[in-house]
Amino acid sequence: MATKKARKKINLAGRDLICTEDWSRDELIHTLELAEDMQKHRFAVKYTKILRDKTFFMFFYNPSVRTRQSFECAATELGGHAQFLEPKSMRLKTATTAGETIEDAAKVMSRYACGLGIRILEDKIGAYGEGDALLREYAKYSDIPIVSMAHDKYHPCQGLADVMGLRKHLGKNLKGRKLLLYWGHGALGRSWCSVQEAALLYSRLGMAVTIASPEGYDLDPEVIKTTRGHCKESGQKFEIIHDPVEGYRGAHVVYSRNWMSPGAYHDGEFHKAEEVEKALKYTDWICDARKMKLSDNGLYIHPMPIDRGHEVTDEVASGPNSIIYDVAENRLHVQKAIMALTMAGK
Ligand code: CP
Repeated sequence: MATKKARKKINLAGRDLICTEDWSRDELIHTLELAEDMQKHRFAVKYTKILRDKTFFMFFYNPSVRTRQSFECAATELGGHAQFLEPKSMRLKTATTAGETIEDAAKVMSRYACGLGIRILEDKIGAYGEGDALLREYAKYSDIPIVSMAHDKYHPCQGLADVMGLRKHLGKNLKGRKLLLYWGHGALGRSWCSVQEAALLYSRLGMAVTIASPEGYDLDPEVIKTTRGHCKESGQKFEIIHDPVEGYRGAHVVYSRNWMSPGAYHDGEFHKAEEVEKALKYTDWICDARKMKLSDNGLYIHPMPIDRGHEVTDEVASGPNSIIYDVAENRLHVQKAIMALTMAGK
């Protein structure tokens, strides 16, 4: 819990959220506590006018179900409006085409909206890190908060929604709980954003972390270094293993998800077909009931959309320990809290 003194000092007005690492632990806990209250008192008058007359812009370079819908509902429930924008229809400058610069776009949009969300990942970038660089360039030039709606490196709204689910099912003190972050074979060639955010945030909140994947599926070395540091700081174990079963032993939370290999981007492009072909060979790498039995009555978590039959079996994804729908719902509450704290003004 954020202490009373810490809460008094917290002022997130105008702040960007590109990764949870950009905010302090107290700021994140404060956001979660507000999200929990917003869930409890969803349509209370104290919350329904916070963004009155304000518009939140959403740039979607890539498709979405939950993120778009939950941000639109969040803006509506706070009394404002979320506007869906497809960058391809906006004549923006890119690496290969002439057009409006980020500086100009960011400065103009700051005159209209109270905040800007951006999703850019997978085939919309040519190399890992380009999406993060784009968000940070918007943040540099805009006068309104920039929020990641999932980009190549991070997915902060997802991380906070996950943790809100864990707090409900495991209690607010997550210290000492074990997370298994498990690579599942899959047909989608997923970005690293959700799993990297989970590694960073769960470890920051005191959880032990085991990352299990076949050889050749390393996450960003900077993310690993920071996660290892968080675990060390709270006296928790951190390990990377390449066995499809062992990591399940004693896990309190099992997060299975496919992610692409570091070789997915080469020659300035995302090679999805190659990634999928390679990943589908690892048929042992699936979260199933037999493996879950080794866990400590572990919760099953996934950011969705799920590649059922590859990343996880139906039996586990729809089983009694699965909290996938709670977490999906939490996207709404945490995004309401983020918008209220960063975009409502003083
Ligand atoms: N978890 C998540 O971001 O879902 P969408 O891709 O459907 O938005």
